[in-house]
Parts: sequence; structure tokens; C-alpha cells
Amino acid sequence: MNQLYLGDCLNVLRDYIKDETVDLIYIDPPFNSKRNYNIFFDDKEIHTQRVAFEDTWSYKNVGDSLLELQTVKNEPLHTLLNAYKLVAPQVFPYLVMMTLRILELHRVLKPTGSFYLHCDPTASHYLKTICDAIFNVRNVRNEIIWSYKKWAVSQKMFSRNHDVILFYSKNINEQKFNILLQERAESTLKRFGKKKIVSAIDKSGKRVPSQTLNEESEGVKMGDVWDVPIIAPVSRERLGYPTQKPRALLERIIQASSNEGDLILDGFCGCGTTLDAAEYLKRKWIGIDISPIAIALMKRRLQDSYKTDLSKFTIRGVPEDKESAIKLWEQNPFAFQDWWIMEFEVFSSTFGKKGADQGIDGLGMYLIPTIEEPIKAAFQVKGGKVQSKDIDALLGAMVKHKCELGVFLTIQSPTKPMLETIANSGYYSAAGFNYPHLQILTLEEFFNRKVLHLPKVNITFKSAQTAAKNINQSHFPTF
Ligand SMILES: C[S@@+](CC[C@H](N)C(=O)[O-])C[C@H]1O[C@@H](n2cnc3c(N)ncnc32)[C@H](O)[C@@H]1O
Repeated sequence: MNQLYLGDCLNVLRDYIKDETVDLIYIDPPFNSKRNYNIFFDDKEIHTQRVAFEDTWSYKNVGDSLLELQTVKNEPLHTLLNAYKLVAPQVFPYLVMMTLRILELHRVLKPTGSFYLHCDPTASHYLKTICDAIFNVRNVRNEIIWSYKKWAVSQKMFSRNHDVILFYSKNINEQKFNILLQERAESTLKRFGKKKIVSAIDKSGKRVPSQTLNEESEGVKMGDVWDVPIIAPVSRERLGYPTQKPRALLERIIQASSNEGDLILDGFCGCGTTLDAAEYLKRKWIGIDISPIAIALMKRRLQDSYKTDLSKFTIRGVPEDKESAIKLWEQNPFAFQDWWIMEFEVFSSTFGKKGADQGIDGLGMYLIPTIEEPIKAAFQVKGGKVQSKDIDALLGAMVKHKCELGVFLTIQSPTKPMLETIANSGYYSAAGFNYPHLQILTLEEFFNRKVLHLPKVNITFKSAQTAAKNINQSHFPTF
């Protein structure tokens, strides 16, 4: 069955994915860009943001990975990494973390399988050498250039208008590949139309202008430079997830390197473009992402796009009961926070850096019939000990961020004074509706299905188009 995992792909691959079981892997990992990406929810022109994933790798973050790598038997790889430690120290931690993950991805790929690594030109030359050492240079298939148009920035350089997709086979002799065809170039079409072209030679063996046959040509073999537009800011395909890739790009890869029923894996799947394309092309899929926001968005995307046609899938790594939720909190409090807020499908917002949340972790936006402006609910999540001053902080943050409602989510039971403050906080009333000004929900109550009293119409993730409407003519003829 299809699977969606919340977690670091390194752990998920090791814990759940068996050797040589996957037909095609595509990954689009963070690019070592030393910046964090925010997710924008741009329905109704409301822009709230949250660090969707952290793209910063430092020595501090990769200490364990470095130790582990020393146990891997691959001399060329060690030589390479040692060289990069000296000549490219700024990128070294990133390469260490990527190397461990690429090794695991190589392990799970079938001998007939293909591996595609999407990166930008700032990282591609380093990653290519790492992949060469892991996959072996004889398995290098292509360096695909994804070319697109975007606004030029006024710097002293040419505009950066491409990404790089490195393509490897696990074993060139067994590799599966469907040749894709594309339309002829404009100039060829003008000169020869759609007829088949044959090169011609005269009696003396000299080349003469090519001739056309009476048959129609099927098209030409697809090259390694792909002109695929990025998703326009106003496109219905855009879901607000940073770095979302166009589905048309993934459809090419999946069509070329897999067949119906094959298993596709994306270890850094973001808002699920690979899974969407795999589902659309009737492949099985496994998606992994470390961000609860990504997992929540992907789940919604697939359900919105395929409705009842969606093939079955399970989600793992997302808390299913109190114990697993507490475990997530102990391992990664930020992921716990994100997960819980996403359960209410509210905007998650730090209003600044993680940790400096100014009393608010999430922002719910609700439309009440007959009221034009959305009303806002401030969500605060607490894992550890709770006390009255936490409620005071939430009240303060509600004033600061102009929120009509406040919700306090806590693992620990609230104290008596906290409950009293909440009970005495009154109601927000509008258009004949009354909502408690402050509400509290414990983790236990959440898993016992106690519900919050909130307005029904919630402004949340952008809905994905249904797949049927989404279908464009992006299927390529194959040989
Ligand atoms: C560039 S985005 C992928 C975008 C995706 N291709 C799409 O179209 O939506 C990279 C993703 O990698 C995830 N990520 C970062 N480190 C990870 C890790 N160690 N394991 C799994 N996912 C990770 C981030 O949360 C982010 O969603």
C-alpha cells in the first residue's frame, strides 16, 4: 500500500524500507542555501508564515552523521569528502548529511531502478561527484537541465534560470527506461512539416539535403534540456509550499523510468508533487518528509485531487495516541507543535524565529456567515509544565495579534487557577454565534475526541485541483 512517513528520511529508510524494493527514486532535498523557507497561505490575501523546513546544515547538526560515515567502506567517497572538508568547508556538513542519505537510497533501489537527484547549480557539482562515488560513473545517465523563465535579479551576473537533475541507473545493464518523444523544433517543423526525415547521400557518397518520407513522424527523442515553466504565482497548481515543483516535471521522470504499478519513492517530498504525479500515472508511492506541515498539506492535496479515486495509503510517524505524541514532543518539540496545530488545520505561525513565538504558535482564521472580515484564533502549544502565567501570555498575545479567540493546547493537565481564568474569560459573540473567548484542550482530551468550539468555515491550505480538471496533455508518447 502507498505510504506517507513523517520523519527524517535517513531513519525511515533504515527502519522501514527493505533492500532493492523501489523502482524509481526522485529527491529534491534542501539546497544548502543557508536560508529558511516559509510557507505562505495566500487565500484571501492573508499572508502568515512559518518556517516550513530548515535548510541549514552545520557541523553541530551533522556530528553523528560524520561518525557513521567513517564506518562506510567506500574509499573514493572518503577521499572526496576529505578533499571537500579542505576546499569547500562551507558545504561540507551538507555533503555529509546528503551522502548518508544517498547511500541508503542506493540500497533500497532495485537493480533495474533509476535515481534522480534534483539540485541547483550551487550544489550540483559537489553532489554529482558524491553520486558518482556511490553509484559508479558507469551508471551516470544524464545531467538534465530544467530550464525556466523567472524575474531577473539586478546583480552583476546572468540570470539563474535553471536547476540540475542528476540521473543515475543502479545498474546500467538492467536499467528500465522508456524513451520519451517530443515535438520537433519550430525550425524543423517549418522546413519539413511533420513528415519523417531521412538523411540522403548522392552517388559519389556526398551528403545532400535530407528528404522527407510520406509517413508522419512520431516526434523526436527527448533531450536533456527541459523547458518546463515554473508554477506561476497565480496558478491553481500552486499550493503555497515553498519550492513546490511543477507536476509536469515529475510526470516526465516517472514516465521515462517506470511503468504502471511500479513503486516510486521521494525521500524529501515537500507538498507531494512526486506522489501526485505517481498517483496520476498509476504508480505506487512512498513519500517521506520531516515537516508535519508538509505531511498535512500532502494528505490534503491527494485527497482534494483524487477524491474517491485515490488509492489507499497509510501515514506513519504521525502521532496516533497520547504515548506516540509525547514521544514526538520528547524527540522534537517543534515538530510536535507543528503536528498538533496542523491537526486543527490552522495557519501555523511563529511571527519570527522558532522559540521566539511571542506567546503564539498558530493562527486560525475563520469566516462567520454575514461577517466580512475573518476572525482570528491564537493557538498556543505547551509540552512541559503549565502555569497561570502561560494563560496570561496567551491573552497578551491575543491582544497583540488582534485575535478574538484563544486556544491553549497542553500535554499536562491545567492547574485550578488556569481553569478559573479560562472559565471567567467570557464569550466572543457575533451574528448570533457565541464562542468561548479562551479554550483549553489537553492531549488526552484530544485523543478522546473532545472538540473545540470554533467557527466552522476555516481559511486554511489552498485546495488542490481535482485530478480530472488538472489533467493536461503532458503524457508523452513513448517508443
Ligand atoms: C525542496 S523541498 C521539496 C519540494 C517538493 N519537491 C515539492 O514539489 O513540494 C525539500 C523538503 O525536504 C524536507 N526535508 C528536509 N530535510 C529532510 C530530511 N532529513 N528527511 C526528510 N525530509 C526532509 C523539507 O521539509 C522539505 O519539505
